Amino acid sequence: MSLHNYWYIATTETAVRKKPQAVCLFGRNYVVFAAENGKIAAMLDCCPHRNVPLSGGKTVNGRLVCPYHGWQFNGDGKLAHIPATPSCCPNVCIPTAHCVVQDGYVWLCIGNPVAEKPLSFPHLGEQGWTTFRMKKLFHAPVAQCLENFLDCPHAVYVHTGWFRSPTRKSTTVKLRWLADGAEAEYLNEPREKSVVWNMLQDSNSQMRHTDRFIAPNTSQVNYIFSDKKHYIITSSCTPISDTETEVHTVISFKYGRLNPLIRLFFEPLSHIIIGQDVAMLKRQHDNIQRFGGKARFYTSQADVLLPAIEAWRKALDENSPPPPAGHEEERELYL
Ligand code: FES
Ligand SMILES: [Fe+2]
Repeated sequence: MSLHNYWYIATTETAVRKKPQAVCLFGRNYVVFAAENGKIAAMLDCCPHRNVPLSGGKTVNGRLVCPYHGWQFNGDGKLAHIPATPSCCPNVCIPTAHCVVQDGYVWLCIGNPVAEKPLSFPHLGEQGWTTFRMKKLFHAPVAQCLENFLDCPHAVYVHTGWFRSPTRKSTTVKLRWLADGAEAEYLNEPREKSVVWNMLQDSNSQMRHTDRFIAPNTSQVNYIFSDKKHYIITSSCTPISDTETEVHTVISFKYGRLNPLIRLFFEPLSHIIIGQDVAMLKRQHDNIQRFGGKARFYTSQADVLLPAIEAWRKALDENSPPPPAGHEEERELYL
């Protein structure tokens, strides 16, 4: 399926340089390791000799060494050495996955990559910008994670007080279907009654807030408070299995001299907020199981980006053309 043709974060480059890493993508287990010439390689995590996981082994001179009998494999998956035999080697090859390093992450593609490189995280390492990262495991499929990250109404309830509190004020949302996903822009959004807004907002300027879905697995929430104050949260979802998603979130902001202070406060706060989402999605997952494992969702006008997420992912899953760009509409929400 086409969803296999995209790049997904498997692990960090730092972790792989230390030792081989066991990772899971679409329910398949891979080992990622530092191969010859500093390259990072990924192959199925199963030794062809006696099926031991190779991720329990080590890397020697760019070869992955199985922990059971020491067979050695190159980054292209080919068997290179059997220590207990005088000659080597039968034509044995482990299936590999495409692998690139970008933005400090190791990304895997288990199909035929649609793009040469993964989507890059905005403003990483740029002057004036500070970044912190988070990694969380959600007991939910990718679509439900994206829906959660791009859903304003839940914040009023799940993150009460921290992030949003109910004001019942009218907000206009502009929804646009784009060539790579969809975007919701919030106009005249209520910002009172929240710890976060009180810290971030600039009383002299209008805030611009957009939520963006970038197919098939990325969400981006963008708050522009002024020319000098900008906060952007990008989450990249890795499908571990049908019901588990590992989410890598990169939060970058520029607040001038306040950057260290913003980080001091917002890094722990972001962990609290995302922890609340992890807990809610776990409750959702457990309840869907309790009712027979088949979700029956009712979607309202307030689920602004959900139809785009579902349409894109369904099209890619079924190898059919993605939804067209261009459609625009305006809605009224009460937040
Ligand atoms: S199981 Fe890997 S070398 Fe024997
Ligand atoms: Fe949330």
